[in-house]
Parts: sequence; C-alpha cells; structure tokens
Amino acid sequence: MQTIEKLDALRDSPADVAAPVSSRMHSTVARAIVDRYHNGSEIRKMFDDGVRLKTIHGPDNVADLSIGNPPFPPPAAFTRALQQFASARGRHSYMQNAGFLDVREAVARSLNERGFFNAIEGQHIVMTTGAAGAINVVLKTILEPGDEVIVPRPFFSEYRYYIDNHGGRMVLADTGPAFDLDVAAILEKVTASTRAVIVNSPCNPTGRVYPETTLQALADNLKRLSDQRGSPIFVISDEPYRELLFDNARFTSIASLYCNSFMCYSWSKAFSIAGERIGYIAVNPTLRTDDWPTLIGSLAMCNRFLGFVNAPAFMQRVIGAALNAPPETDHYARRRTLLCQALDEGGYRYARPEGTFYIFPETPGTEDDFIRRAREELLLVVPGRAFGAEGWFRLSFAATDRAVELACERLVRLSR
Ligand SMILES: Cc1ncc(COP(=O)(O)O)c(C=O)c1O
Repeated sequence: MQTIEKLDALRDSPADVAAPVSSRMHSTVARAIVDRYHNGSEIRKMFDDGVRLKTIHGPDNVADLSIGNPPFPPPAAFTRALQQFASARGRHSYMQNAGFLDVREAVARSLNERGFFNAIEGQHIVMTTGAAGAINVVLKTILEPGDEVIVPRPFFSEYRYYIDNHGGRMVLADTGPAFDLDVAAILEKVTASTRAVIVNSPCNPTGRVYPETTLQALADNLKRLSDQRGSPIFVISDEPYRELLFDNARFTSIASLYCNSFMCYSWSKAFSIAGERIGYIAVNPTLRTDDWPTLIGSLAMCNRFLGFVNAPAFMQRVIGAALNAPPETDHYARRRTLLCQALDEGGYRYARPEGTFYIFPETPGTEDDFIRRAREELLLVVPGRAFGAEGWFRLSFAATDRAVELACERLVRLSR
C-alpha cells in the first residue's frame, strides 16, 4: 500500500507535475485510462448522472434523452427464437472464433437477398460482439502502429478509443453544411499513413443518411488512390442504424460499392437488444487480397485475442433464426415528429434526421450554458463536444413516451 508520504512524493515528481491532476492521484489505474475515466466519456457521465437524478427526483420526472439504448421490446420473431433455443438441447461450448458456420451462411444469404452483395458467402462473415466488437476486431487486424484512420466529424465518440486501442491515430475530416459527407475534405486528409476511413451512415449523432452518389464518389477516389500507391485504403462501414430510416430515405452501404471494405453491423439498435452483444463483420468478397484464409483467420483470431473469443453462442443461434424479422420503426417516427415540432416551436437550428434515433440541434447560447440549464430542468442530452462538434447537442429518442413528452416541453422552455 502507498503511504501518504509516498503519494506526496509521487505527486511532486517532475513528470507528474505536467500530468493532469486525475492521473497524478492514482497509482493503480494506468494514466491514459484514469484520464479517460475522468475526462473522456461524456456519454458515460450522462448515463451515470441520469441514474443518480432518477433516484433523487423519480424516473418519471427526468427526461433522459442521452443514451442510444432502445427501451422497446424486440421483434416477435426474436422472442420466439429465444424460447425455441432456450428449450432445445443446444451446444454451449466454444466454436470456431468466427462463429457458427450455419449462422454465418444465413447472414451471407440474407445480405445477398437484400442486395448488399452478389456472392458473399459464410466464409466472408465473422460473428462479433456487436458493432463495437466488429470495429475493434477490424482495426486490430489491419492497423500498424501509427497508421491513420480518417473519421468524418461529428463522429461516434467511441471511435477515438477504438482506434487508439490498436495503435492508430484518428484524423478528423469536417463534414459539409447540414453535416453532409464531404468527399473532398476526406481526400484532403489522405496521407501515406492512411490505412482506413470510417463511414457511419445513418450517422450517430447527426441522423444523416449519405446518398449513393456521394458514397460512390468516395469509393471511386479511394480505389484510385489505393491503386496509385499499391496498397489498400480500407473502408470500415459502421451501419448499426441502417434499418432505422424515415420519410422513404434510402440506405446505401459503401461496403457494397467499394471492394476494400468491411461492413460492421449490430442488431443492438434495429432489434432493441443492445445488451445482448451480437453483430458481425462482412468482408466485401471482392476485397483485393491474394490470401483470403489469412485475412479471415486473422479477423477470427483477433476476436479471440481481444478477449471476445467468439460472439455469444446462444445469441448466434437466436439471431440465425430471426435475421430477417422487420424491425419496428413506428415508435421512432412518432417520437421524431414530436421532437422536431418542439424544436421548430423553439426556433432551434437543426437538420431533420433521415435515419437513426438521434437529432443534433445547435445549442442556443454556449454549449456549457445550455447543457447546464437543461440539466437544471432535468433534461439530459449529450453535449456536441463528445462528438467533436462544440456548439451542438444530441437528443436520443430511443426513450420512453413520458421522457419524450417532458423533453418537448422543456426544449421549448429552454429556447427562451
Ligand atoms: C455509430 C455506432 N457504432 C457502433 C456502435 C456500437 O454498437 P454495439 O453496441 O451494437 O456494439 C454504436 C452504439 O451506440 C454506434 O452508435
């Protein structure tokens, strides 16, 4: 155990004087982690704050629109499959790290039937613990130390940590007006060290769904640059919200358009099963490699090395049987309409989301002041800086009727 004197000496050492206060105080937790814990995740802080405020004021009085954690029941086909596999004699042991082959084949069939690919097969699929697991496995597999990963801003805040986990460097590219994907801004950031671009459509936090023409332009340019330099610039297409679309918005996956791509998917959002941790990587079958077994074997091995080992066996079975169940999106459409009406009434500036269950309005006044005033009104939202975009805030309408109703009143009040 550290004595007080030792801790004082540690605190006063020259290296520690320069370090942030949080890391000087801790000797048990690695510096990078303790700094992240104290300064890093705005979303985690909001989550903890929400739990505390609900205990003090009662859950019915807090409008918690902070977290993207759908509170709705999963599709009936999923629940039926749960019951079916719970009472069947199933295998609960390890399997190949890529997952059950029959489930991978079912995923591949569904991707072909839905037009994402022409000829993807089970061998191109690796089952993962959600999209988070999928992205970490891909990054672990492809990154050399110091490799750059281009991320359009605003971005899902966890990307920063995922890239850092595997020795990469996140390079931000600005988006255009109304947060449209800006292909020229992405290309400007390409260097000899660029290894990948992350494309997230529909986008968390902006709700934008990128049009096919824009994605095709990005794909064409990345192909040209990859050919020129003789090594691939990969695309990681992070698409857990692709079924959550409004007003006939059309989703296109860049993974369908660009050979050197990894599609990362999760059922967390479409099926409201975020706690179950199930998703996959689909590698574009035209990806340019002369050694497929090593690529797929390495992805599967990284699933193991990262400690996931394999996607949960029971969930693989259930998802394998319920894959094609249509997600329920009506509750999101209704909530989006109500919140947009309140934002319009309050005169907020925002782009109407085309997908996801998020809206990303501009803060009236400074971000800090707005977030503080919102919290005083027991309205929990995530500040834009968490997504690399100060002066904006994210509302999640994966929330109860009551929370949305309260949020609408409070948003109008806060705009005055
Ligand atoms: C854009 C984006 N990517 C990945 C994830 C991680 O998804 P999962 O929890 O299903 O792994 C999330 C979760 O919120 C997300 O918003």
